[in-house]
Amino acid sequence: MKKAFVKSYGCQMNAYDATRMADVLGAEGYTATETVEEADVVILNTCHIREKAADKVYSELGRLRVLKGERAQAGQDTRIVVAGCVAQAEGAEILSRAPTVDVVVGPQNYHRLPDLLARSRTKRVVDTEFPVEDKFDHLPARRTLGATAFLTVQEGCDKFCAFCVVPYTRGAEVSRSVAAIRAEAEKLLQGGAREITLIGQNVNAYHGVGLDGGAATLPDLMRVIADLPGLLRLRYTTSHPNDMAPDLVAAHGDLPALMPFLHLPVQSGSDRVLKAMNRKHTADAYRALIADVRAVRPDIALSSDFIVGFPGETEAEFEETLRLVSDIGFASAYSFKYSPRPGTPAAEWADAVPEDVKNRRLQALQTLLDAQRHAFNASFVGATVDVLVEKAGRHPGQVAGKTPHLLPVQFDAPTSTIGTVVPVRIVRAGSNSLFGEAVADAAVAA
Ligand code: 5AD
Ligand code: SF4
Repeated sequence: MKKAFVKSYGCQMNAYDATRMADVLGAEGYTATETVEEADVVILNTCHIREKAADKVYSELGRLRVLKGERAQAGQDTRIVVAGCVAQAEGAEILSRAPTVDVVVGPQNYHRLPDLLARSRTKRVVDTEFPVEDKFDHLPARRTLGATAFLTVQEGCDKFCAFCVVPYTRGAEVSRSVAAIRAEAEKLLQGGAREITLIGQNVNAYHGVGLDGGAATLPDLMRVIADLPGLLRLRYTTSHPNDMAPDLVAAHGDLPALMPFLHLPVQSGSDRVLKAMNRKHTADAYRALIADVRAVRPDIALSSDFIVGFPGETEAEFEETLRLVSDIGFASAYSFKYSPRPGTPAAEWADAVPEDVKNRRLQALQTLLDAQRHAFNASFVGATVDVLVEKAGRHPGQVAGKTPHLLPVQFDAPTSTIGTVVPVRIVRAGSNSLFGEAVADAAVAA
């Protein structure tokens, strides 16, 4: 039996693509392995968003070159595939920089992996063209199913934030039809999924063909999915503030399956920086939007992305970011030092913020965000929350799942509770997980 090892970096979209690549190879008779040494095919599903992420690929490829040599000496062939956004951005350059690579395949082309692998036996191949056919029409049924699942509904981004490679690596916004998404959701639910996260690079700009042939928005799509039998929880990520239309805000108040968690990147609290970033909204517009969401869903947990040290960012401008964070209060967040990316407008700009200043600002921001996260987690101690059980826990007899606010919880229960919602009384908040006790044995059947 041939074995495939897939390692994914970066965002949820890449995580989704990685499972679909495993599905493609599964249909060809490959089994998935987590031991790279025994893999006949090794796929690195790469991320190009920041320099550090992109650099990881080449250090990993260095290790794989050694492994491939060792396997060759033992008479075993190893195909090395670079997929994802570095593949899309660098294409054939990867072949010249890393002689060990056999296949370079972009995010829109991985349905062709079997053909590319076969062709690579005679000649190394690159496939990063945006194909005319839709990869989703060519992907086999999903194999790896759990209680929670990602489902791609939209790809690409038309926003062109000045720092971001996504519009170049993932291309223009394209939305799948409601019918295609519903069909995939039905299969996930029949396979045992209870929570579906609709994903897209800019998912709230979703504008697919609806069931009636007209245009459907993200809330239109969510109402269709929320009605499917077996679905308990619905989420979506990731979004741009300017695409938070009133009907989407309203859905947070009147769609019970939609969980009270919103990841809404703001990047900066300074209007000057936001303008330079081409975000096309102000800090106060973001505050007002959050107030609207909280008006319909007061308990919503908020999450965001931040960049510190964007070119020209002054100390006062950075402090405006701290003020925005203090004003809003986030349950979780991702924060990054600005990293110039080749091909993006900001990469050409002068006024780079020195590295030590970026480090100091990142640390100050993360200290504030960590304090908010800890306070949010601690607010659940003593409360009873519904936990959707996803898997066995760290210790024997434990299971792990998530609350509606997406907080991980560990508690004692049999693994037969996986896929069900269990009320759990939280007794302790760690820095990343909550710990609790199942309330009686009142497992709510899915
Ligand atoms: N430098 C630093 N962070 C970046 N992001 C995107 N591009 C860059 C960059 N060039 C961050 C943004 C985005 C998240 C996915 O990654 O905060 O929301
Ligand atoms: Fe990148 Fe901006 Fe599009 Fe997000 S909205 S993917 S940050 S260009």
